[in-house]
Amino acid sequence: MALALKDTPNSFGLGSMLLHWIIALTIIGMYALGLYIDTLTYYNPEYQTIPAWHKSIGMTLVLLIALRILWRVINRTPKPIPQPKMLLSITKAVHLLLYLLPVITLASGYMISTADGRPISVFNWFDVPALPALIDNQEDLAGEVHYWVATLMVSLAGLHALAALKHHYINKDNTLIRMLRIPKETDS
Ligand code: HEM
Ligand code: HEM
Repeated sequence: MALALKDTPNSFGLGSMLLHWIIALTIIGMYALGLYIDTLTYYNPEYQTIPAWHKSIGMTLVLLIALRILWRVINRTPKPIPQPKMLLSITKAVHLLLYLLPVITLASGYMISTADGRPISVFNWFDVPALPALIDNQEDLAGEVHYWVATLMVSLAGLHALAALKHHYINKDNTLIRMLRIPKETDS
């Protein structure tokens, strides 16, 4: 029987799962890479490679996250798993932030990198052009936003992961399973 690409009433489908896990792992890797960049000096040989990787992977994330938001809009996401009203509202707010904060992180990264008018080279394959700088002192301000928003996003993702584990091991409900086990077409 065919596996469901789209979400079903009781489970995420293969499309949402692949996008969720690829983006989650990439964001965590990008955070570590960003902190590492901060330790490099201009004279370090890695200064020529690691920031270029960070930016190229980041521009790939722009595409993946755009696809994810589009996929979310055209899918009927699974019904929420019953839990107290208060927790349901917190879950909703955290999920919304986990869609929003990556967008702000990517936009601020773009604004740091293009503040001096230079385009972003993506894997030495093609260039993403720079827009004219929008604000004074753009590189420094965007740098602050980039760091703090990325840190908030990764901290929330940590909380979110702990909540998923709590659902699995303490509430013993389907929350984590339905982001991991691909449903069959007929479940929809
Ligand atoms: C940076 C990392 C992550 C981001 C940005 C992220 C983002 C999201 C978002 C936006 C949703 C909501 C999906 C929707 O209803 O449209 C979601 C759901 C989910 N995530 Fe993550 N996530 C991350 C990491 C993780 C990790 C590490 C775990 C695991 C332990 C996890 C487990 C889950 C589960 C189980 C759901 C489904 C929740 C439900 O059914 O209501 N996520 N994630
Ligand atoms: C979700 C994706 C991303 C994450 C999690 C992330 C995370 C980080 C972190 C934690 C830092 C270190 C900041 C500091 O210590 O001050 C950093 C630096 C940097 N990031 Fe990102 N980043 C992402 C995407 C991007 C993108 C798309 C670009 C540009 C195209 C970019 C460009 C930069 C640059 C140029 C720096 C060095 C800034 C400086 O030294 O002030 N980042 N990033």
